[in-house]
Amino acid sequence: MSRRGFLGLAAGAGAAVTVGAAGWSHLAGASTGRILASRGLLPKPFGVPLPVPPVARPVRSERGADVYDVEQRESRIEILPGRKTTVWGYDGIFPGPTFDTRSGRRTVIQVHNNLTVPTVTHLHGGVTPPGSDGYPTDLLLPAGRCSPGQAHQAHNGMAASHGGRMAFGSRRYVYPLPQRAATLWYHDHRMDFSAPQVWRGLAGFFLIGDEEEDRLPLPGGNRDIPLMLCDRSFEEDGSFRYPTHSHDAFPDGVLGDVQLVNGAPWPVLEVSATRYRFRLLNASNARRYQLRLEAEEGKPGRFVQIGSDGGLLAAPKPHSTLDMAPGERFDVVVDFADHPVGSRITLRNTAGEGGMRNVMRFHVVRKEKDDSRIPARLSTSFEKLTPSSAMPVRVFDFRRTNAGDDDRQVWTINGQPFSTDAVLASPRLGSVERWRFSSDFHHPVHVHLAQFQVLARGGRPPAAGDAGWKDTVDVRPYEVVEVLARFAGYKGRYMLHCHNLEHEDMAMMANFQVI
Ligand code: C2O
Ligand code: CU
Ligand code: CU
Repeated sequence: MSRRGFLGLAAGAGAAVTVGAAGWSHLAGASTGRILASRGLLPKPFGVPLPVPPVARPVRSERGADVYDVEQRESRIEILPGRKTTVWGYDGIFPGPTFDTRSGRRTVIQVHNNLTVPTVTHLHGGVTPPGSDGYPTDLLLPAGRCSPGQAHQAHNGMAASHGGRMAFGSRRYVYPLPQRAATLWYHDHRMDFSAPQVWRGLAGFFLIGDEEEDRLPLPGGNRDIPLMLCDRSFEEDGSFRYPTHSHDAFPDGVLGDVQLVNGAPWPVLEVSATRYRFRLLNASNARRYQLRLEAEEGKPGRFVQIGSDGGLLAAPKPHSTLDMAPGERFDVVVDFADHPVGSRITLRNTAGEGGMRNVMRFHVVRKEKDDSRIPARLSTSFEKLTPSSAMPVRVFDFRRTNAGDDDRQVWTINGQPFSTDAVLASPRLGSVERWRFSSDFHHPVHVHLAQFQVLARGGRPPAAGDAGWKDTVDVRPYEVVEVLARFAGYKGRYMLHCHNLEHEDMAMMANFQVI
């Protein structure tokens, strides 16, 4: 082992020994990564209204399918007041348009790449056939504007990564959606470049509805709002700042110093004194959140969780704090009737530092009639998985390795950096397996295709935020997280990986093959 590797491990181990039981929650909430400081003045918090991304309209609805066209392109938009930022956006916006879809109804998204780089689109949380799942080497090469050099580079990349399925200009992603109502998201998944390409804007919401959810008297319409949380850094002229050599300079992950919600810095939302449903998504590259609602007057705010990554919980679950790792979603209801008209409630991130302790603010501006309710029973179809000794057990250990003489860091799963050829597990279609994730570090572990339930964390019952069906779970330092995963949907090659996007780009991915 190299000297630097040894020191790193020793420092990590020391921290674990000294924190003790009481120190865990602090350590668990802190973000893994390093701040990349913006250049120039940062905007004042709570100065801009919260934007809500537009809902995409199908170009065609056939019997049984909705077909959408979406164009990946560069555009210049105002994120920081008075300055322009060049984003790479789905339809040129950031976040991209929200897809509003139905369980079991085929959704086809025709993605047109008018950027100058290859892309891959993945529907995170989707039960998707392998050909549309956005495997990192299934590149969509740019349409017209691709220079011969870039095409050549892409071809070489393909050769080196053992032949993904390449497309030129556009690709049809087919989503049959054989799954429950849930809050999903889509984002770039290009091999080695997901982190910089998501940072530049390639991410958006994808909502699935179903009849079970329709029957519930939850807040709806303009009181059902998706909130995409992510951090970014900016150059003086307003462009996004991202390190050129993130692999060397930011191996633990890149943290921004401007908090964005739906693409706006520290925004404000005017609300009535009623219940709102917020679909929280941590779309940050590496940042973790420990969310709290702080009220200037009235009771401290609280979240009532109604759903997780994979849709409705069986019953609502109140939280005063929500821990969110990258990739995770929490569907919550907040009741602003607990606060007098005129009050300001701030959504804080107590795991953040300095200005990053603020996320956004709610301003209660009026009273309003509220017909919504949170029923005591949310989902009657929720099936709790229980372990059995017949279930295959598989272990996935997430660790840093210093590879080669140059002491370069790679992130590995079971000691292996990602290879398109290696298959670490072959679960049977329809089966449930017991998967064990371990690490000496923080890694939000995401599994494609499968939905899982957390069985144990550190040998104890799951944490408060682990409830429900999930596709992403935070593995904290020196902790083993056990999940029961169901491999329903399709046979084929899928992957699991760390959703710290810098770790993911540094090889912390692995294949499994559903047989
Ligand atoms: Cu959200 Cu494989 O990613
Ligand atoms: Cu995914
Ligand atoms: Cu990681």
